[in-house]
Amino acid sequence: MREPFVAGNWKMNTDGPSSMDLAERIALESVGIANQSVTVAVCPPFVYLQAVVKVLKSSSIAVGAQNSYFEPKGAFTGEISISMLKDIGCTYCLCGHSERRHVIGETDGLINQKVIAAINGGLLPILCVGELLAEREASKTEEVVTRHVKKGLAGLSAEKVSAVTIAYEPVWAIGTGLTATPQQAQEVHDFIRKLLGQMYDEKLAEEIRIQYGGSVKPDNAEELMSKKDVDGLLVGGASLKADDFIAIIRAAI
Ligand code: PGA
Repeated sequence: MREPFVAGNWKMNTDGPSSMDLAERIALESVGIANQSVTVAVCPPFVYLQAVVKVLKSSSIAVGAQNSYFEPKGAFTGEISISMLKDIGCTYCLCGHSERRHVIGETDGLINQKVIAAINGGLLPILCVGELLAEREASKTEEVVTRHVKKGLAGLSAEKVSAVTIAYEPVWAIGTGLTATPQQAQEVHDFIRKLLGQMYDEKLAEEIRIQYGGSVKPDNAEELMSKKDVDGLLVGGASLKADDFIAIIRAAI
């Protein structure tokens, strides 16, 4: 049984007071779900991580970073290492989010180095994969997802890959209000699980959690989660409202 995993990606939103306020509300409202079998994490901007870790300390909610750098230390101005994130209490790290791939220009090779560094440094990576609208329209979804998964996990043993969560996020569904239908999500999740089975083994493929992301809202979360291979949700916009985020977590349980 794969425990559902809901993560909130705050992106470059909130400020000092509102990040604390959001974390406090989520902590308060999550008391009711504390004993449920669900994994929950939030990924605030770097500068608010420490404050949010503090607020969520006595809750069951983990904290993740939205990005990291793969080198352990040195002359890499502006970058943040895995050990720094670990040091301040992070558990997870997003790797290869579509905005980092397509806006910032991260390559599959760089993302792979980040995934490896995260695992070796004791952070649990959430590897984001997914196709652009033009790629879906050209029937290239499977080709793109295969590339993202294979290159993102290159060089890692099955044992190390068991630390990874995959997030399938079709780029055309992110922040657009266009959600993949539960059936579309299920098809790609099933494809990814079979791919993992070929790359590693059936056991790993059955154990690894695959989240869906892209315009997840309280009113579509339950239907998405009803699909066999949808094990969780990566939530952007709706994770900025405590009520909506909690409603999504409840729908995932
Ligand atoms: P969205 O973002 O829920 O706002 O579409 C999801 C994501 O980018 O992770």
